[in-house]
Amino acid sequence: MIKRTGMNGKHVLLAACIAAAGYVQAQQQPPVVVKANQLVSEVQPTMWGVFFEDINMGADGGIYAELIKNRSFEFLKPLMGWQVQQDFFDEGALQVLNRLEKNTPNPRFLRVTKKAAGGNLAVTNEGFRGMGIKKGLRYDFSLQYRQPAAGLSLSLELLNNEDKTIGTATVQTPATGEGWQKAAVSFTASDSASKGRLRITFTGSGSMDLDMISLFPADTWKGRPGGMRADMVQKLADMKPGFIRFPGGCIVEGFDLSQRYQWKKTIGALDERQLIINRWNFEFAHRAAPDYFQTFGLGFFEYFQLAEDIGAAPLPILNCGMACQFNTSELVPLDQLDPYIQDALDLIEFANGDVNTTWGKKRAAMGHPAPFNLTMMGVGNENYGPQYVERLQLFMKAIKAKYPDFKIVTSSGTDPDGKRFDYLNTELREMKADIIDEHYYRNPSWFLANAGRYDSYPRNGAKIFGGEYAGHSDKVVDGKRQNNWQAAVAEAAFMTGLERNAAVVHMASYAPLFAHADGWQWTPDLIWVNNLQSYGTPSYYVQQLYSLNKGTHVVPALWNGEAVKGQDSLYISAVVDQKSKEIIVKIVNASSRTQTRDVVVEGAAKLNKTVSLTTLGSETLWSINSFEQPEAVSPKTTNITLTGKNKLNYTAAPYSFAVLKLKM
Ligand code: AHR
Repeated sequence: MIKRTGMNGKHVLLAACIAAAGYVQAQQQPPVVVKANQLVSEVQPTMWGVFFEDINMGADGGIYAELIKNRSFEFLKPLMGWQVQQDFFDEGALQVLNRLEKNTPNPRFLRVTKKAAGGNLAVTNEGFRGMGIKKGLRYDFSLQYRQPAAGLSLSLELLNNEDKTIGTATVQTPATGEGWQKAAVSFTASDSASKGRLRITFTGSGSMDLDMISLFPADTWKGRPGGMRADMVQKLADMKPGFIRFPGGCIVEGFDLSQRYQWKKTIGALDERQLIINRWNFEFAHRAAPDYFQTFGLGFFEYFQLAEDIGAAPLPILNCGMACQFNTSELVPLDQLDPYIQDALDLIEFANGDVNTTWGKKRAAMGHPAPFNLTMMGVGNENYGPQYVERLQLFMKAIKAKYPDFKIVTSSGTDPDGKRFDYLNTELREMKADIIDEHYYRNPSWFLANAGRYDSYPRNGAKIFGGEYAGHSDKVVDGKRQNNWQAAVAEAAFMTGLERNAAVVHMASYAPLFAHADGWQWTPDLIWVNNLQSYGTPSYYVQQLYSLNKGTHVVPALWNGEAVKGQDSLYISAVVDQKSKEIIVKIVNASSRTQTRDVVVEGAAKLNKTVSLTTLGSETLWSINSFEQPEAVSPKTTNITLTGKNKLNYTAAPYSFAVLKLKM
């Protein structure tokens, strides 16, 4: 039986009229016109980069692959991270000794004394929220030791989440005498564990001093001993970032000046790199991390090397003589600023100097005689006020006197607007600043509303570095925000404005970069990791799509003769790539409606009929990626076909970001 729909003739006619009207409306939309031969400006090779800070266990416990927490007993509580197992009574079996007068960078060590051959004595390290262990992988253990006489033996047990042994080794410590020695042993894990631990058992009798106890997986990035987690570096390499900013962030400023980042203390032998407390250890009461310290195993040499590995320009940021203004606001008196300025000058020599210079020689001694080609540096992170200006002036004068072409990145403070920002923006431009660093942690609607922010910025004078930004779905730093598609699609829309204004915006980076699922302080973040896995958020894929498709020159993309920055909730920008001979159009539909537009390319010879279309999107704004579904929101590439000469018809799904590549 045919069921009647309940529509009478009148209804059918009305429905047809509505459909036809919609069709006519879609058909009547003027096209988006891309003017491929009107080169507006170059896109800098540095345009899209990454911001690295040791926040959220990004370095220690994160990309720095060391598995032993508190390897040199320098945490505030010297045995933090170590559990002692001792089944006999002897108060002095384990002692922490401090040789501060003799060894300032690494004063403490552990003295183990076992008087009788019987009894069990062991220490177990819990790792950074456990140790990620992979079945079949080699693990490299090492330590420094000193013993008056032989007698004590060391054996290792790698334990899984259930305390089952999944790897064993014996450490040979044959040397005796007063000097420190090194011992090392490698072994293979027989099983995987997400929260493994390492136990060191002492048998026999005697006494031994231990320091710098270390365990690294063999599968570090480029197989470098003592290196970085390969999966995390790969995520950066996959973005092909134009620059890498390091080491922060607020970490540069320090809670107070004694806790500021000092690059000279992060190079050379590991046991000479003086550990300090990480400022994110206690910054947020709701996310306290009492075991968060900076060992500087990942130091400035390694940052430069990382930059080189992933083809990114290095962008170090140095302390300008001011501690964090959210915290102590300590200032270095102006007449005592010289050592800070000297640090900046020496850093340029460390990176670029000939191997015969004082600092170039140190770089060469670390294994890199060739220069790192440093061309820019930030002075101060989120510093502000006249106190910043007067310190910055002294840095600029000294650096430009010695290196006139060297570029200095300057701070515009904590916010992208308001009196503080206006003051600095005026002062910095009067000082003829090279690059102004603007930060915007804002909700998604701010990003949508600000896609035209740089359209009116002066084209001459200071260039812009969008040095830290992220869409926050609600207020800043409440610990609940997720990297959802709502934030990412708004960032994608805003970035059309950065791209359109590449004449003035020379660099931009999302922040923060990494977060450990069990050790974060700040959300949202670009890439999430646990001890074994890592995944990119929807925002990561937005960043990656821009970076991989940055082109060489901006060209106009116009609708009704105007830049597309929110009309009908559409955001569009276009570049040409003169190397790959492509026209690349980015289209963001920030509305809940499907929208169709013709895109017409003018000023190009006949284009290839096949067009590559990469889309990123989700049906709901609340979609996220996760360890279980790392690619729930991730780019999908397909081909579409031109519908006429240099013309295509594109239908943008609700809340979508698309990259169209047309071959010239
Ligand atoms: O990215 C997190 C923090 O945000 C940075 O350390 C700081 O520069 C900003 O306030």
